[in-house]
Amino acid sequence: MSPILQAEGLQKNFGAVTAAADISLAFEREAVVSLIGANGAGKTTFLNMVTGYLRPDAGRIRFDGRDLVGRAPREITALGLSRSFQIPQLFQSLSVRENLLVAEGIAGAERVEEATDALLEKFDLASYAGRAAGLLPEGIRKLLDVAMALVAQPKLLLLDEPTSGVAADEKFGIMDLVMGAVRGQGVTVLFVEHDMEIVSRYAARVIAFYDGRVIADGTPAQVLDAAEVRRYVIGDEHAAA
Ligand SMILES: Nc1ncnc2c1ncn2[C@@H]1O[C@H](COP(=O)(O)OP(=O)(O)O)[C@@H](O)[C@H]1O
Ligand SMILES: [Mg+2]
Repeated sequence: MSPILQAEGLQKNFGAVTAAADISLAFEREAVVSLIGANGAGKTTFLNMVTGYLRPDAGRIRFDGRDLVGRAPREITALGLSRSFQIPQLFQSLSVRENLLVAEGIAGAERVEEATDALLEKFDLASYAGRAAGLLPEGIRKLLDVAMALVAQPKLLLLDEPTSGVAADEKFGIMDLVMGAVRGQGVTVLFVEHDMEIVSRYAARVIAFYDGRVIADGTPAQVLDAAEVRRYVIGDEHAAA
């Protein structure tokens, strides 16, 4: 089958900064892929171009047979591409349940009460349902953000640092819930992650970014062992001197 997402020759500059040099990547359906790279490497810029928040200076993006460049984020979401954010985009004063109801209203979902209960259950959020989103621990807020992204029943889910700001011992629990929620749903998942234990455990493929370029692409073992990755991403000062 054709890839769900295909980027060809993506370029993006911000003044003198090259955030995307010439990025060409294809993603198979139902793959789970991690994007890694130091801060400023261009990971979020890639997600922003794919989701329509940024227009590339050059290049093409095909999603499920359609060209995406030039479409608005809302239109891209409607095509089946959802994302969560590095900083969860929640309605702080609304409860967890109300946040999900709003997301369902935007997505035009039917039978919203049942859909909401199902998501609360899947993400182990039922005990927080009535609490204001702004007052919850970061891990719970992250889960709610992902649950809201899944309301639209996307074919492709992009997660920007789903475990950042979360205590180390809570990260696996969050990823288990997220992966459990998408398993068997035919969803492709791309997630940006800094914790290499998480990357190795959940991704079948890893793509390393540096300076707006892809410097490695392969299995976790291949990529985490590559000299350039150890030098520029993992920060192993003894590597490839
Ligand atoms: N909207 C923007 N305006 C100006 N510079 C930006 C903008 N977005 C990203 N950049 C710059 O582009 C580079 C890549 O950033 P980003 O994609 O956010 O990296 P990452 O997510 O890998 O940390 C950085 O140098 C960043 O400062
Ligand atoms: Mg980022």
